[in-house]
Amino acid sequence: MSSQDIPEENLPAERAAHEHGRGAVSVADERHPFADPGLPPHEHRIQDVDERAAKRSERTVALLFTVSMLATIGFIASYVAIPVEKIVYVFPIGHINALNFALGLTLGVALFAIGAGAVHWARTLMSDVEVADERHPIEASPETRAKVHADFKQGAKESGIGRRKLIRNTMLGALTLVPLTGVVLLRDLGPLPGTSLRHTLWAKGKRLVNMNTNLPLRPEDVAVGSLTFAMPDGLKEADENFQTEIAKAALMIVRLEPRDIKDKRELDWGHEGIIAFSKICTHVGCPISLYEQQTHHALCPCHQSTFDLSDGARVIFGPAGHALPQLRIGVDSEGYLQALGDFEEPVGPAFWERG
Ligand code: FES
Repeated sequence: MSSQDIPEENLPAERAAHEHGRGAVSVADERHPFADPGLPPHEHRIQDVDERAAKRSERTVALLFTVSMLATIGFIASYVAIPVEKIVYVFPIGHINALNFALGLTLGVALFAIGAGAVHWARTLMSDVEVADERHPIEASPETRAKVHADFKQGAKESGIGRRKLIRNTMLGALTLVPLTGVVLLRDLGPLPGTSLRHTLWAKGKRLVNMNTNLPLRPEDVAVGSLTFAMPDGLKEADENFQTEIAKAALMIVRLEPRDIKDKRELDWGHEGIIAFSKICTHVGCPISLYEQQTHHALCPCHQSTFDLSDGARVIFGPAGHALPQLRIGVDSEGYLQALGDFEEPVGPAFWERG
C-alpha cells in the first residue's frame, strides 16, 4: 500500500494529535503522572511502495495455500493407498507406522501452510497502519456499531481480498479442502456392517442349544406350554463376538398343540408343534421374555408389544411393526432339534428392510 492509500486520520502525526486531543498527555502532570509517548513514526514496508515486491508476496502466499491443497490431497491419498500394517524407518525417529507418519506429516503441512500463508499475507500485504483504540463501555452505541461496520469494510478492502483474486481463490481452495481430512477419518469409526445384519449364525444342520443348560435340545425336552430360549450350537459365551451374534440369533422355543396353530406355514416350519421364533422384538430390539401359555401370547417388556405365537407371531398390540421371524426347524438323525436354514427375513427392528 502506498502512503497515499493510508487514511489521513490514521497517519502517526494525525493519530498522536487525535489521541492527545482525547485525553492522552504528552507531558506528565499531577493528574497524569505518566506521559504518553505516542506512536513511533510509521515506516512503510517495501510492499507498500513497490508493486513488484507486493506481487512477489502475493505469489508466495498463493504458493503456501497451494502447498496446503497438495498436502490435503496427499493426506487422502495416503489414507487410501498405504496399508495399515506397513512399517518404515524414518531418521531420526526409527521404525514407525507408515500410515500414521504420512497422515501426520501431510495434515501438519496442510495446516501449517494455511497458517503461514495467512501470516505472510497479513505481514506483507494487509494494511500495517498502527491503530490504537480507547477503552469504552461494553455496550456498543449505534455509532460504534456503524464504525465497526465501516472498519470491517475498510479492512476487507485493504486486505485486497477482492482485488487479489489469486490469493482469494487459493485460500478458499485450501480452506475448502482441509476439512476433508476430518471427513476421511470418519471411516475409522469401525468396519462397515456389509450384509452381516441380514444373516445370523443359523444354518442348515445347526442344532438348537438350550441357553440355560448349554445342551442340545431334543423334542421331548420341550413341553407343551413351556418357553425355552435357544442359541446355535458352537456359540460360546466366552467367544469374542458372542454378544453380537446372540443379539441376532437368540431363539424363543414354544410347543403348542398342533391343532392350536392357526397359521399353516408356522405349523409346517415347526416340528410336532414345536416352533422357533426370533427372541428379538421387531420394535427396537429388546429381548422378549414373557409368555402367556393360555393365550399363546409373547410380550415384550420394553413397550408391551404383544405377538400371537399361535398365528405366525403377528403383532396384536403395541408399537412393533411386523411379526417375529420364524426359524424353520426339524430333527436330525440323532434326534436333536436342528435349524433347516437361516431366518428368511431380517431379525429385529424393521428398519433393516428399508436399507
Ligand atoms: S422393543 Fe419391544 S415393544 Fe419396544
